[in-house]
Amino acid sequence: MTGKLYGVGVGPGDPELLTLKARRVLESVDVLCAPDSGRAGKALEIVRRAVKREFRLLRPRFPMTRRREVLERAWREASEAIYAELERGEDVAFVTLGDPTFYSTFAYVMQRLRAAHPEVEVEIVPGVTSLSACAASLGEPLVSGGERLAVVPAAYGLERLEQLAENFDTIVLMKVSRSFDAIAERIERLGLSERAVFAARCGSDAFFSSDLASLRRKEVDYLSMILIRGLRR
Ligand SMILES: C[S@@+](CC[C@H](N)C(=O)[O-])C[C@H]1O[C@@H](n2cnc3c(N)ncnc32)[C@H](O)[C@@H]1O
Repeated sequence: MTGKLYGVGVGPGDPELLTLKARRVLESVDVLCAPDSGRAGKALEIVRRAVKREFRLLRPRFPMTRRREVLERAWREASEAIYAELERGEDVAFVTLGDPTFYSTFAYVMQRLRAAHPEVEVEIVPGVTSLSACAASLGEPLVSGGERLAVVPAAYGLERLEQLAENFDTIVLMKVSRSFDAIAERIERLGLSERAVFAARCGSDAFFSSDLASLRRKEVDYLSMILIRGLRR
């Protein structure tokens, strides 16, 4: 019988934020698929701290590029390597930082696998997102009542930030590390600095700063985001 693929969210960093369901799945599968890139490698580190057992490891490489054909090849190769295990009757857990449905490579791999092998059973085990972890570490609600939340992958451009600030109460900018200086400058120019908080490594060794200007021209942690709050008050 063909094995089952699990997309398992392992949470933002603290092994205590791995769910009981994730742990049960990780204790039951023989094959663990954990992307082999410095940053995503953190998911494997969380698993190793939370679950004391050995796995057979699949370590697909996903190049840090926007070139669609390069990524497409990597996603397809990863989905075929997973399928080879499933075909042998093995269950596979693809682990992802935070949640698998929230900006995760798992989505691309799952879509390729489903397209090529529609018979394969896939189950997604949700995880605590970095967004929830950051809000929790700040000790404040992300949104409440009728407030609106916008989540923006800032690495793909921030053209509509001004418009978003007029229409949403909280804006969360993800993927800010590569163009941090330009993003911080934009926030400043729109007069939003006082409402912005930089948050890094939430859910483990968290760091916060309300002084975005002081972080410019410095190396910014990949595991970081900017929250802009209280916009329509
Ligand atoms: C590819 S996305 C992965 C999101 C993840 N699937 C989740 O559910 O949180 C990577 C981005 O998530 C954010 N991120 C992930 N972990 C984080 C953490 N522990 N603290 C702050 N931001 C984090 C950063 O903005 C980073 O650029």
